[in-house]
Amino acid sequence: MATERDELTGAETTGHEWDGLKELNNPLPRWWLYILYASIVASVIYSFFVPPIPGVMGVFETTRAVVRQDIELARDAQSANLERIRLASLQEIRDDASLRDFVYSGGSSVFAENCAPCHGPGGAGVPGYPALVDDVWLWGGTLGDIHDTIAYGVRSDDPDTRWSEMIAFGRDDVLNHSEIEDVSHYVLSLSDTDNDREAALRGEVIYAENCATCHGDAGEGDDLLGAPALNDHLWLYGGTLDEVISQVDNPKHGVMPAWHERLDDTTIKMLSVYVHTLGGGQ
Ligand code: HEC
Ligand code: HEC
Repeated sequence: MATERDELTGAETTGHEWDGLKELNNPLPRWWLYILYASIVASVIYSFFVPPIPGVMGVFETTRAVVRQDIELARDAQSANLERIRLASLQEIRDDASLRDFVYSGGSSVFAENCAPCHGPGGAGVPGYPALVDDVWLWGGTLGDIHDTIAYGVRSDDPDTRWSEMIAFGRDDVLNHSEIEDVSHYVLSLSDTDNDREAALRGEVIYAENCATCHGDAGEGDDLLGAPALNDHLWLYGGTLDEVISQVDNPKHGVMPAWHERLDDTTIKMLSVYVHTLGGGQ
């Protein structure tokens, strides 16, 4: 049959016609066809290596058995590491370079699950919940200190908990309101925070008589009592005049739960070393 051309476009027609409508013969572009052929070839090669037929093993395929074996191996390695941690002292764990990655990844996932809700992601701290990434410690920053804080808690219901209580100087009428204000100005002066000089001078004596036993003569704090340093710019409960007055008047007593019944010894050891490496462990 002679080829017929469409008048409008000049393209060849296929000769098919429906009610006066003729089908144009527009072949697929060549590049498109080449890609199609190439993918057919690729699929043949691919199915040789990874056959889509149940029961037929390809060259590059892993069986379930291999996967199972890999998981088994990983689990063995993990339990071997856990066993080493169980037997080692905190110092040995910290100093063992081959355990470092394991302790870090294990510690950070336990931390994210149990500790971050209070201490913030990564232990960055939120008001009332101390940062664990700095080198300032309420209860001491040695591995042993950190371990005991985590295991027994602070003001928790555990018999071995760390415990201390700041006196409620206002609520219990130990100091009157102007004395509380004066001593609070003095507290601010310890860290060179804005304060009323006159009031701070009056507050100095009050501080020496009422506060120095726990917070230290120069406000350096005491980590046996969990008494924060007052001569730095880090505040657990806030460093404005009102916040200091409020703490002296009617103090907050932070509570940290004990973990030794919820987490096993090995996990607590791992966490202790993890927290110690987060910031400036001592
Ligand atoms: C319910 C909230 C809460 C949870 C959960 C919590 N903590 Fe605490 N943690 C606190 C508070 C509050 C303090 C400060 C106690 C105080 O005022 O002395 C604290 C203190 C600490 C300290 C002492 C910091 C210092 O400066 O000496 C460490 C270490 C610590 N937490 C680690 C952890 C770890 C690890 C976990 C997870 C296993 C955890 N905490 C879970 C509330 C919490
Ligand atoms: C018996 C020991 C003790 C005495 C005495 C004491 N404190 Fe405290 N103080 C603490 C403890 C413990 C904390 C931390 C409370 C907590 O962790 O919840 C604290 C916290 C504070 C804070 C909050 C610090 C921050 O970082 O936010 C201020 C401010 C403070 N004390 C001021 C005073 C002043 C002023 C006096 C004297 C009038 C005084 N304290 C007497 C134990 C004491």
